[in-house]
Amino acid sequence: MSPSIHDILQKKKKAEKIAVITAYDFTSAKICDEAGIDIALVGDSAGMVMMGNSSTIAVTMEEMMSFCKSVVNGTKNALIVADMPFGSYQVDMTLAVANAVKLIKLGCHAVKIEGGLEVIPLIRRLTEYGIPVMGHIGLKPQTTVLWQGYKVQGKTSDAAIELYDQAIEIEKAGAFSLVLELVTKEVSNEISRALTIPTIGIGSGSGCDGQVIVYHDLLGLFNNFKPKFVKRYLDSFTLSVEAVKRYKSEILSGIFPGEEHAFSMPEEESINFTNYLSTMRSRHGS
Ligand code: KIV
Repeated sequence: MSPSIHDILQKKKKAEKIAVITAYDFTSAKICDEAGIDIALVGDSAGMVMMGNSSTIAVTMEEMMSFCKSVVNGTKNALIVADMPFGSYQVDMTLAVANAVKLIKLGCHAVKIEGGLEVIPLIRRLTEYGIPVMGHIGLKPQTTVLWQGYKVQGKTSDAAIELYDQAIEIEKAGAFSLVLELVTKEVSNEISRALTIPTIGIGSGSGCDGQVIVYHDLLGLFNNFKPKFVKRYLDSFTLSVEAVKRYKSEILSGIFPGEEHAFSMPEEESINFTNYLSTMRSRHGS
């Protein structure tokens, strides 16, 4: 059974670390679930690793809904958090709530919203309506990247104070957890110490209450580039190319498919079929 929001909050109280990973389809969700991951995040990083876009910006609600549906189908035990894609919550509050409701109705347990003080009213409103929200500050791929590129956040004391204040306000607004992306470890440590809700770090050091990583990065499936904070636990891209090459060469050499991969007719049916063919052939003189 999936953990409740209460269970996730309790983990912080008990100083138990929280393991989060992105998932976008039935199979990746099943793998994460089987491995005992606490939270499956249907991230809009899907736009990059599943769709080959250069950023997360183009991802639509329809695409997110399709990813979410597949993850819900593959998940039994993890809490499922759905990213709200760029444009799905900025237009107005009513549309934002309607879009969050769509994701929850699919079977997701919470939504994630990127943003600082500007998203506080939305976090408050969704929480009031009973929709759990995960915040996301630091590097915000939907917007920061447009202004600054992929830069570490919180390097100056002014930037650190701004992040710290945002974190406090996001907790006050009712978020149940907060992603800190590419934030200096000094800042993420202090934020994690100050909040009662868990911080989930990505490239933000070991002082966070949990960690998240993109599934394709962890397994080495995405090899366009490797950020410093990523630890690859498998070189799946290379292993997969090797496997597919072997498959091709076995087709060319006749090794695949083998006898064990073929299906037979019952003997009697096969005899009838052969008899039929020989009658036909003798009739046509072939
Ligand atoms: O979209 C995503 O995968 C994310 C995480 C990396 C935090 O937002």
